[in-house]
Amino acid sequence: MQDRVVSGNQGPEADTERTLRPDRLREYIGQDDLKERLSIFIQASLGRKEALDHVLLYGPPGLGKTTLAHIIANEMGVGIRYTSGPAIERPGDLASILTNIDDREVLFIDEIHRLSRPVEEVLYPAMEDFALDLVLGKGPGARSVRLDLPHFTLVGATTRPGMLASPLRDRFGVLLHLDFYDPADLAEIVGRSAKVLGIPMNLEAAHEIARRSRGTPRIANRLLKRIRDYAQVRGDGQVSKLLAVEALELLEVDPQGLDKIDRRLLLSIAQRYQGGPVGLDTLSAAVGEEAGTIEDVVEPYLLQQGFLQRTPRGRVLTRQAYQHLGLPVAPGMMGD
Ligand SMILES: Nc1ncnc2c1ncn2[C@@H]1O[C@H](COP(=O)(O)OP(=O)(O)OP(=O)(O)O)[C@@H](O)[C@H]1O
Ligand SMILES: [Mg+2]
Repeated sequence: MQDRVVSGNQGPEADTERTLRPDRLREYIGQDDLKERLSIFIQASLGRKEALDHVLLYGPPGLGKTTLAHIIANEMGVGIRYTSGPAIERPGDLASILTNIDDREVLFIDEIHRLSRPVEEVLYPAMEDFALDLVLGKGPGARSVRLDLPHFTLVGATTRPGMLASPLRDRFGVLLHLDFYDPADLAEIVGRSAKVLGIPMNLEAAHEIARRSRGTPRIANRLLKRIRDYAQVRGDGQVSKLLAVEALELLEVDPQGLDKIDRRLLLSIAQRYQGGPVGLDTLSAAVGEEAGTIEDVVEPYLLQQGFLQRTPRGRVLTRQAYQHLGLPVAPGMMGD
């Protein structure tokens, strides 16, 4: 997956990602319904001088879950502690985080679907009763004591809400789903990022980049930076629509925003499996990408755009996908 920035947590890309991150809800572009609900819950909690109820953020990668967690802490005027499902190895690790947290503080757990069962079990009473159950001693003399915890806000993020155990999911009071951005909102995000990075760009170019960013701010920001490189070397530094189109062609991003991996997946279903249905594992072997990556990163946008359908027997290409690939459409094709 080196062609598409999926994880935003490491390397020099992570630095710009932090620079480009809006700090407040009013600077956060798009996702209007989500913002409206969240701002009501935040104002209400502030009014009662209480911690915000636990929040679960879910949706495809790069849409702004981590950004929102920071915004929640900022709007609540509290600190944030950052950890992730795989980073919390033992129940004791979580216990020590929880005993050190301040009242109303945000505990952000990224990839929360990857918590281990024993760790999850520590989390249940912590979320519900703000309590930690400790077992002291061993064998017949062991006894359990309950320790009170500060009233914190757990903000969990996941690309896979279906993998969350239901007792965990049920303990979140606020569930927020992030969806792909529409091109107008993405164009605004690209415009904002260009301003922050000092890139001279016109409106038309912003719209072109937005249209080709798979509805994803992280991809939009990444393409913007590569187009800046292109403008600097092949042009005079200005980003026009024409220059953006040239640069995007060089990056092998097509007019609908599909990249090499997307096209490889669609072509493979068309040519090797006669349009499907084909199972995820077979497809994974055929295109050389992990099944999890296909499911979490590649497919959601293709499904949303109507190129692909999920059926009980596997993935099936639509008529629209054939047209996009420039292949003849078979009679009786799905997707009409
Ligand atoms: N609504 C928005 N307005 C402006 N910029 C945004 C918005 N949403 C996301 N971004 C930008 O997109 C980038 C990716 O966002 P973020 O890291 O929050 O995504 P994520 O959902 O946490 O991804 P992952 O699932 O991979 O952890 C950040 O640089 C952020 O600044
Ligand atoms: Mg994140």
